Amino acid sequence: MTVMHTYDCVIVGAGGAGLRAAIEASDRQRTAVVSKLYPTRSHTGTAQGGVCAALANVEEDYPEWHAFDTVKGGDYLVDQPAAQLMCEEAVDAIYELEHWGLPFNRTPDGKIDQRRFGGHTRNHGEAPVKRACYAADRTGHMILQTLYQQCLKRDVRFFNEFYVLDLVMSDGRVAGVVAYELATGELHVFRAKSVLFATGGFGRMFKVSSNAHSLTGDGPSVVWRRGIPLEDMEFFQFHPTGVYKMGILLSEAVRGEGGILLNSELERFMERYAPTVKDLAPRDLVSRAIYQEIKEGRGVGPNRDGVWLDVRHLPREVIEEKLPDVTEFARVYLQVEPTTELVPIQPTAHYAMGGIPTDVEGRVVLGEDETPVPGLYAAGECACVSVHGANRLGTNSLLDIVVFGCRGGKDMAEFAAGTDLPGLPERPEGMVRDLLDGLLGKEKGYNVADIRTQLQDNMFDLAFVVRTEESLNKMHDIIRGLGDLFGEAYVQDTGRVFNTELMEAVELRFLLDCAETLVVAALARDESRGAHFRDDHRLRDDANWLKHSLAYRDDDGSIRLEFKPVKMGPYVPMERKY
Ligand code: FUM
Repeated sequence: MTVMHTYDCVIVGAGGAGLRAAIEASDRQRTAVVSKLYPTRSHTGTAQGGVCAALANVEEDYPEWHAFDTVKGGDYLVDQPAAQLMCEEAVDAIYELEHWGLPFNRTPDGKIDQRRFGGHTRNHGEAPVKRACYAADRTGHMILQTLYQQCLKRDVRFFNEFYVLDLVMSDGRVAGVVAYELATGELHVFRAKSVLFATGGFGRMFKVSSNAHSLTGDGPSVVWRRGIPLEDMEFFQFHPTGVYKMGILLSEAVRGEGGILLNSELERFMERYAPTVKDLAPRDLVSRAIYQEIKEGRGVGPNRDGVWLDVRHLPREVIEEKLPDVTEFARVYLQVEPTTELVPIQPTAHYAMGGIPTDVEGRVVLGEDETPVPGLYAAGECACVSVHGANRLGTNSLLDIVVFGCRGGKDMAEFAAGTDLPGLPERPEGMVRDLLDGLLGKEKGYNVADIRTQLQDNMFDLAFVVRTEESLNKMHDIIRGLGDLFGEAYVQDTGRVFNTELMEAVELRFLLDCAETLVVAALARDESRGAHFRDDHRLRDDANWLKHSLAYRDDDGSIRLEFKPVKMGPYVPMERKY
C-alpha cells in the first residue's frame, strides 16, 4: 500500500537549511518537513566554531571585506553577486537568531562576541579579523535547537525517519516526492506544489570524514537521476584538523583562539606557507601544507601521516569557556590531555562545495542560461548557489543555511501560492518500489558494507587532498566496478520494520552517484583551484577554467559534462597570497 499526502510545500531534510526554510514556508503555506533523521539529530548540530557576519562588535569590519574574503577564499570560482548578497544579509540573519534566543557568547559589554577563523581578514587580507559569532564550540547545535523551537512554535508538520528516495515530476514541473517510512517499511507519496531539498552533504564517500553516517548525498543523487545536473562536484573541502584516524572535527576555532600546528620537528610550519595569517589560512592551503609536511617526512603518528595541534599555551579560561567540546573530544577519542599534550590531527573530508545548482532564491536551475525547474528548490550543503566556489571559508556554511534557507523558503511559498496542485503520474512510487524489491529479492550477493568500504578507502587514497589524472582514472574504473557489484548487492534483512540495512543499501547508491560525478568532473578539470589540487596540473588556469562544471546523467547512465561561466563582480582574480 502507498500512503498519499498533499501539501503546498514539502521540505526534504531537517537540518539548519530545511528548518530555516520551513519557518518561512509554514508562515505562508501548508508545509511538511520530511526528514530521515529526527530534526535535532541533523548534522548542523555538529558544526562547532561559529557563524560569520561583519557585525564589527569586536574589531572594525564590513560586509564588503567579508565578501572579498569569501571570493578570494573560494579561489575566484565564487559567483560574486551571490557572495555579496550573503555577506550583506549576514548581519540581519545573526540578529534574527539572537532575537529567537540563540545563546551566543558575549563580550564584556553584552554584545555578541566574535573570534578569528581561517581566511577571514581585515581590509582585504591585511591581518586576521574577528568575524565569527559563536556559542562556545557548539554553534551549530545552538542554531539547530533555536530553529527547531521556531518550527514547533509554528506547528510545522514533521515526518521524521522518512527517507526521501525519489522526486516526482509531472509535465516538466515538480509534483512531489516519494519517501520510505523507516518504522513501518511503507511508501508515502507527498504531492506538493513546491519541494525544497536540504539534505546536506556526502562526505561519507571518504574513509576519513567529519561527516555523520547519514551524509550520503541523498538529495543530489535523487534529483540527478531525474535529469538535474550537479554543479562543481570536483570541489570537496578537506578540513585540516580532524581527529587522527577518525576524522571527527576539531574546530578551526582552536586556531582562531591561538592554537597552532606543528610538524614532527615541532616547527610551526604554517609560517612558511602563509606568512601573514599563518595557521589561519584557508582550509585548502592548510590541508595541502600538512600534506606537504607529511610527504617530506615531517609527519607524526604511527604512520607519520598526521601533524600536531598545540593548545598547551592557551589560557585555561579560553579552553573552558570557548573550546569545551573540542578539548573533550581529544580526551575521549585520543586519550590525550590537550592542556599538557600535543594532539595528533590529519585532514578530514568535511564539506561539499558543489551540489544542486540554484539561484539566490533557492530555485534549482538548468544549464548555462539557468532556467528554473518549476517548483524545485534546494538550499544548504546539498545546493550550489555558488557562494563557496572552490573552497569554502570556515563559518560561511552556517551562514549559507540561514540566508539561503530563508530565501528558498520564502520563494517556494510564493511559487506555491501562485499555482495549482500538479497532477501525479501513474504509479508515482514505481521506481522506488522496483528498487527496493530488487534489493530485497535476492538470496545471495555482495555485502553492502564491503562495497561501501571499498568506495571509502579508494576515494581516500585516490581522490583526496591531492589528485592526478592517473589516480582519478583508476578511481573512476573502481566506481564503475562497484556500481556493477551494487547491482548484485544482497540485503539480508527482509523485514519491514526499521530495516536500516535496506536504507544503507540505497544510501550506498546515492554515494556511488555522487562519487562518480566528483571523479568525472575532477578528471576534466586539468588545473588546480581551491580544494581541487591536481599534482599533474599544479597551477590555476583562469584562461580556461573560470567556469562551473555541470554533470548530467545521460540515459545510458554515463556522465556528460557541460560548463557555465562564473558570475564575476568587483573582485579580479589574483594570486592567492596569505
Ligand atoms: O572548524 C569548524 O568549526 C568548522 C566550521 C565550518 O566548517 O564552517
